[in-house]
Amino acid sequence: MTEPGTVLITGPTRNLGRHAVLAMADRPHGQRPDLLLVGRAGPDLTSVADEARTRGVRVREIGCDLSRLADVRSAAATVRDLLAAGAVRPLRALVANAGVISTDTRRPSPDGYEMTFAVNYLAHAQLIGDLLGSFTVPARVVLLGSNTYHANFWRKLLGVAEANWADPVELARPATGAQAPGMAAAGVAYSNAKLAILYYAHELQRHAGTGINVSVFEPGWMPGTALGRGAPKAVQALSRALSRVPGVSTPQDSGPLLAAMALDAQWAHVRDGAFVVKTKLTEVRPVAHDRDRERRLWEATAELLERAGAPH
Ligand SMILES: NC(=O)c1ccc[n+]([C@@H]2O[C@H](COP(=O)([O-])OP(=O)(O)OC[C@H]3O[C@@H](n4cnc5c(N)ncnc54)[C@H](OP(=O)(O)O)[C@@H]3O)[C@@H](O)[C@H]2O)c1
Repeated sequence: MTEPGTVLITGPTRNLGRHAVLAMADRPHGQRPDLLLVGRAGPDLTSVADEARTRGVRVREIGCDLSRLADVRSAAATVRDLLAAGAVRPLRALVANAGVISTDTRRPSPDGYEMTFAVNYLAHAQLIGDLLGSFTVPARVVLLGSNTYHANFWRKLLGVAEANWADPVELARPATGAQAPGMAAAGVAYSNAKLAILYYAHELQRHAGTGINVSVFEPGWMPGTALGRGAPKAVQALSRALSRVPGVSTPQDSGPLLAAMALDAQWAHVRDGAFVVKTKLTEVRPVAHDRDRERRLWEATAELLERAGAPH
């Protein structure tokens, strides 16, 4: 078995990410990785880091607001320094877990990009791009996808918006107009960002060195997490109520499954952006495989990151 090395995870402060961190920290001695926790600096980051340390793992907190690409670049530089100094074990996995649904798609990130696209997608493309040469193989990149990229009966019934793809430069552009575009537009932006993650995962596998395996994890619907924290109060209350419906998932259930994606031998050979829904390898819809869109996304991402000051 490969020694677990170091696992970097974004969005470790709450819900899915937090439970994944604690599940990794709870592994038996010898199977516990060192942990790099990349999240907004503050008491939540310190609290999850302390909880993990209490369980006997080596943890580094790396303060980073993922909506700021300059922050992301400096987080990646910190990771490279820690690895070069031997302060943590070799980097074996990166879990791109952080996510957000910005309820006002007019809101720009500090770099001028639509917030949902910026945090879910662009920040992770920057971080992974900056660290691609820093992995020790065999290594894994686990991205967080969502089934909302396509509609089905239940999602239609609940008004969950599916993706509506456009050129990535358009997807990155905040909406305009005096009128707030509303929750439906926020849902489309989220589903577009998650479809971008699928396209990116497929293309990333073509660019990543041998031994770096890329996969996409779908934790199952976990209503009531902070993902919808900007939604109207009534929507949040409905979400909390739905979190008690049998069959939906919870961060407590899905966190350990995400930890398994980063660490378990069962998932070691999963690559090419394969989509794993909780514990099941799942074929994505035909719309999620598109070589032209994947190539264009790669190229547009380089432009968008460069425009924000990133050497790419
Ligand atoms: N909930 C679901 O039903 C569901 C379904 C499918 C996929 N997913 C995906 O699973 C992942 C985790 O979701 P969740 O439900 O656990 O969400 P959550 O409760 O909202 O947690 C999101 C995490 O992302 C972090 N984050 C957000 N914006 C950030 C920023 N600008 N800088 C740094 N960190 C930031 C948050 O940090 P703070 O604590 O600082 O806010 C938090 O740790 C997401 O990628 C989500 O899209 C969720």
